[in-house]
Amino acid sequence: MEIRFQEGGYKKWQADILLVPALEGENCLKKHPELDAACPWLAVAPAMRDVRHSAGELAVIYGHPDLNIPRVLFLGLGKEESFTLQDLRLMVGKALQKCREIRLSSVLLPLSILDALPCGRDRLLEEVIYAAHLSLYEGHFLRKKDETAPKGPDIFSIGVTEPILASKKAAIRGSHAAKATLLARKLANFPANMLTPADFADKAESLAEKHGLNCRVLDEKDMLDRGMGALLCVGQGSVHPPRLIVLQHQPEGKADEPPLVLVGKGICFDSGGISLKPAAKMHQMKSDMSGAAAVLAAMTVIAEEKLPKHVVGILACAENMPGGASVKPGDVVYAMNGESIEITNTDAEGRMVLADALCYAQTDYAPAILVDIATLTGACAVALGDELAGVFSDDVFLVEHIKAAGQTAGENVWPLPLWKNYAKKLESEIADICHTGPREGGAINAALFLAHFVDEVRYAHLDIAGVDWQEKGTALCPKGATGFGARTLIELARGGLE
Ligand code: BES
Ligand code: MN
Ligand code: ZN
Repeated sequence: MEIRFQEGGYKKWQADILLVPALEGENCLKKHPELDAACPWLAVAPAMRDVRHSAGELAVIYGHPDLNIPRVLFLGLGKEESFTLQDLRLMVGKALQKCREIRLSSVLLPLSILDALPCGRDRLLEEVIYAAHLSLYEGHFLRKKDETAPKGPDIFSIGVTEPILASKKAAIRGSHAAKATLLARKLANFPANMLTPADFADKAESLAEKHGLNCRVLDEKDMLDRGMGALLCVGQGSVHPPRLIVLQHQPEGKADEPPLVLVGKGICFDSGGISLKPAAKMHQMKSDMSGAAAVLAAMTVIAEEKLPKHVVGILACAENMPGGASVKPGDVVYAMNGESIEITNTDAEGRMVLADALCYAQTDYAPAILVDIATLTGACAVALGDELAGVFSDDVFLVEHIKAAGQTAGENVWPLPLWKNYAKKLESEIADICHTGPREGGAINAALFLAHFVDEVRYAHLDIAGVDWQEKGTALCPKGATGFGARTLIELARGGLE
């Protein structure tokens, strides 16, 4: 969908339908005298008598077909006191889907309409554009095209009287954020047979070239040279060998700045390995690379927007499969930092690939801030459900930044403790550390294991198991991968972290 700014005012604007988000209560046409004057037919339309702008209400009002704007769609937002940006996003999503259903090809939002809502127009515009893009994503990209299915809208116009640079920037931010979320979603929805670690590396390389990022891919030989036994052991049971993908955004003048390093778990398929998972829902484990997908997607936007910050993205990709060559419970491997790790459950593979990726991030990039994102533990999903990701960090400022970035992104994160007393539960009889602890406190145990591989660096771990996948579709996301985290990471790179 193309985003356009149309200038000149109500008399000049052209579209199939006008979008009017409105709060319940005071007569909307009184609040917007310009709209009332431009569409005098609205006030007398019999259907208007039933329109309340209550939360969730969509109302299409028809004018004469020869008018330059022949229809108005009211998006009910409910009472001002309970207004949230998420309500607005969902209503915009529903509205655009409605426009598709009635086969309209262009919509127009008068920018001044947003001034009647809390928050500020540019902030709202960013979210409207974000939501509009998300709502039109269908996800079934491997199906034959249904030529009879409704398409569009193709054009989303923002109606203004004169050019406004700040609003243009807001609209671009919204489009970019949506592009990232949709890319992360698409990658995570890809079947594992079509997105192996090597395919992921190819994809990263081509996106890096397109967006002007540096890209380096380490294969098994490179990993062996660097002593990455923890990452390597996860992939050794698969015919698709692991890859460590490194993307670097190094803007002019910032090359020597210690970077923000983003590390993503990229398990292209998690069968559990020898500690095989049950069959039910195992297919969802094609999205066990959601963290890596979020990092890759965020990096493309960070580069495209030429953000003035040195940022490195590291994707730790492997396929966790059972087989004759697989790592076994009881095996001991060496991580890149020389620590020996006893493996007791091959299904706890994410923390293994991340351990080496975190070591590599520190030795090769000396980060100012290190953040990993991973579909790490079922325990986190049990603790926080499907709307909250867990954030673990000893750095309270970093936690606040991540929470704030998440809030801007509409991706909620909630702090969980790095409870040091539990570290003893990771003690091994025969190695320096065991990668799993007891079932109780599973998300914390995993986070403590990761923290064991991080030295004196500002560090946070995001556990997105549970939020990376949606059982039921919404107007903003069909069933399946959600793309969670891509936008939060962009916001993190944007914001003044220091
Ligand atoms: N990828 C899973 C975690 C997961 C579960 C993500 C459900 C999304 C939805 C991870 O690799 C895993 O299997 N974790 C184990 C760890 C356990 C063996 C210590 C878990 O959570 O059960
Ligand atoms: Mn697993
Ligand atoms: Zn996993």
